[in-house]
Amino acid sequence: MARKEKPWGGRFKGGTDREVEAFTASIAFDRRLCRHDIEGSIAHARMLARQGILTAAEEKAIVAGLRGIRKDFERGALVFADADEDVHMAVEKELIRRIGEAGAKLHTGRSRNDQVALDLRLYLREEIGHILEAIEGLKDALENLAGKEIDTVLPGYTHLQRAQPILLAHYLLAYREMLDRDESRFRECRVRVNVMPLGAGALAGTGIPIDRRCTAEILDFPEMTRNSLDAVSDRDFAAEFLFDCALLMMHLSRFCEDLILWSTEEFRFIEISDGFTTGSSLMPQKKNPDVAELVRGKTGRIYGHLVAMLTILKGLPMTYNRDLQEDKEPVFDAVDTVRASLSVFTRMLGQITFLRDRMEKAAAGGFSTATDVAEYLVKAGVPFRDAHGIAGRIVAFCLERGKTLEALTLEEYRAFHEAFREDVHEAVTVRRSVGVRDIPGGTSGKAVRKRLREIGRRHGRTKR
Ligand code: ARG
Repeated sequence: MARKEKPWGGRFKGGTDREVEAFTASIAFDRRLCRHDIEGSIAHARMLARQGILTAAEEKAIVAGLRGIRKDFERGALVFADADEDVHMAVEKELIRRIGEAGAKLHTGRSRNDQVALDLRLYLREEIGHILEAIEGLKDALENLAGKEIDTVLPGYTHLQRAQPILLAHYLLAYREMLDRDESRFRECRVRVNVMPLGAGALAGTGIPIDRRCTAEILDFPEMTRNSLDAVSDRDFAAEFLFDCALLMMHLSRFCEDLILWSTEEFRFIEISDGFTTGSSLMPQKKNPDVAELVRGKTGRIYGHLVAMLTILKGLPMTYNRDLQEDKEPVFDAVDTVRASLSVFTRMLGQITFLRDRMEKAAAGGFSTATDVAEYLVKAGVPFRDAHGIAGRIVAFCLERGKTLEALTLEEYRAFHEAFREDVHEAVTVRRSVGVRDIPGGTSGKAVRKRLREIGRRHGRTKR
């Protein structure tokens, strides 16, 4: 029997309009799923053979044929055309061209609708693995850096106004906390990605006696979808993945914002190495933190992908609709962007020199230890509200006279409250201010070292 050019050509008399063919084709981007499509098809063929739906000879021919296609695809020897429409049809067509009749039996008990859901899940579970590794790498880099900068002090800010001195290690470990949460979100997401949809068919399941459990086992899926209608139209896992990417990028973006500020002449807390900065084509003196700026900028692009995905999904009637083909490019670009950002950002961290003296000097300015004056009085029994008021008046006094808290004499302090003793001068130093914040989660050297040790222990148990 002669087969039409299109697998679905049976009910058509006329050919497809060329512009429509180009418009509806996804092969230009979903070719990225080729390896996963073949992996899924091999598992499907094996299951069909076990069920007696394919003969052993047919199974062998299909598996060998698909492996050959995969090899040729990987060495760039396969050329796909718009007329192939998508990767699923392209691979099937090529298989039939290579092995004939047996190839035409591969699609038994399957639809492109459950097939594409499977491919995207196989692809994402693999990519989430790569992203998790990259997050681990960045966490390691932060821990190492925190260990190295354990004595470095800088101003902590609220409202971007100097607030209280903190340890740089404490700052760095704050980002590690965010990454910890990102990691667990991606892991959770992978649980929902890791569900086998084949068997849903186009939407209603299949009358062919396939064994879904067998396919799931071959492909190492711990679970199967439980409703065929949901299986072919669900892209929650992709939206969730994009949200996790968006949040991760937001964290990197915030970090970048600080690094960009810190590398300005106004702050000059850090110097980023030449290899990770670029110059201006006009202004000879410029050295720009482009890597950090681009990570910040690319965050917007990931937000866009998340909104695109949610918008694609919101109006879909049950079940599969071709709109769903638009799910792939946002996911692919998010994967590329997140992986590239994590990689370059992690390497950039190692290329930063922290100008410790500048940081410490800034930490001492701006009356950043005024809280310590108030807490000094509290420890002497003064109610906090009163102590706050007194410390505020002391700051105003210093401002009027152009003095610092360290430079006030004991007499001047005592004019505000008799509880002040000589040790107030020690209490308002940056080092002391950091050191006394010695509670779990605080910025003292002791607390931060403890946290570093905890992290190290956890590594010993769970990592590699
Ligand atoms: N290329 C399609 C997609 O990405 C595959 C499924 C097409 N199914 C269909 N009935 N047209 O969603």
